[in-house]
Amino acid sequence: MTASLEQLRRCHFAVDLGAARTRVYVKGAGLVVDQPSAAAVNTRTGALIAVGEFAEKMRGRTPDYIRVVRPVSGGTVVDIEMAQRMLRQLLGDRMRRTLRRKPFLRAAACVPHDADPLARRAAVETLVGLGARRVELVDTLIAAAVGCGLPVEQPEATMIMVCGAAATQVAVLSLGSIVTAERIPVGGEAVDHAIVQHLRHEHELMLPSQSVRPLQIALSGNGLTRQGPESTEIHGRDVATGLARSVRVDTAAVRDAIETPLTAVLDGIGRVLRGCPPDLVADLVDSGITMVGGSALLPGLDQMLRQATKLPVHIAERPDVCAVQGLGHMLEGKIEPLALEPISK
Ligand SMILES: Nc1ncnc2c1ncn2[C@@H]1O[C@H](COP(=O)(O)OP(=O)(O)OP(=O)(O)O)[C@@H](O)[C@H]1O
Ligand SMILES: [Mg+2]
Repeated sequence: MTASLEQLRRCHFAVDLGAARTRVYVKGAGLVVDQPSAAAVNTRTGALIAVGEFAEKMRGRTPDYIRVVRPVSGGTVVDIEMAQRMLRQLLGDRMRRTLRRKPFLRAAACVPHDADPLARRAAVETLVGLGARRVELVDTLIAAAVGCGLPVEQPEATMIMVCGAAATQVAVLSLGSIVTAERIPVGGEAVDHAIVQHLRHEHELMLPSQSVRPLQIALSGNGLTRQGPESTEIHGRDVATGLARSVRVDTAAVRDAIETPLTAVLDGIGRVLRGCPPDLVADLVDSGITMVGGSALLPGLDQMLRQATKLPVHIAERPDVCAVQGLGHMLEGKIEPLALEPISK
């Protein structure tokens, strides 16, 4: 499936349906939605109770008859109907009315690199349900590279790493296309999972579902690097007794637990570099790796990459919204027409 820049310029809105967050860019209005991809549903009546930030806050705190669901999993829309309901609610009445007024509504969406036909179909169906008559799909890697201002259309190679919640995608780009790329199914969620498992095994402590991020913040500043406080106090629930309990957790051990899933990411980067022509690898010594995606903010991840690859590593400004901003640039026609034609898919 190939979406040309001309077709993208005709789109009225663009959606990045992520495993963790949903983002919508509306032409002329900018980024109008940036909320968690979550919906709270009343299982008795099927009614939607809350979406986005509000639904996310309810996670782990709801009575039996309310369920917090995530319609996007592993970067793929797994519940099309729920994704549509969530998007409708997130867009709000006013924005929906604005979009409905367009006689031939066109939408763009970014899909993970290597997304299978079913995943692409699901993305298209979701937006068709929102009223789009035509949907253009763009590779997340290209969208993110455009969004963080990488000179993708140049013959010099650039390397981008999209650190999402469900996956990490790495690519070497040159002349507006992907030279080699890899999608590693390890992202922010795997890091959170590693912390939860560590506390469960080592301290017999169950964490409230919302407190993994505070734990990461406790490690921050020094993050994955070996400095900083020796231990940090964590509150949770005892696995056996079910009672509330606090433990002092050794931060070095937590860092080790986080590093384990990240080795898969480093292996993936190695494979991309090995599959890349030598001339382009030589370019990367100057241009380095640009990190985007929410998990790029994981404290110390950039340092770890720098050590492993010996390449310069930069974190994009506002890394979390790069992909949707890239789609936005394409919609607004901010990309040189000759560059990036066609956008490889
Ligand atoms: N400051 C931070 N430190 C560490 N991790 C963070 C931070 N902010 C966000 N994250 C992590 O980033 C992830 C969300 O990133 P992003 O918004 O790019 O995901 P997504 O686009 O929804 O996922 P995907 O692209 O994999 O479908 C979450 O797993 C979250 O835990
Ligand atoms: Mg994403």
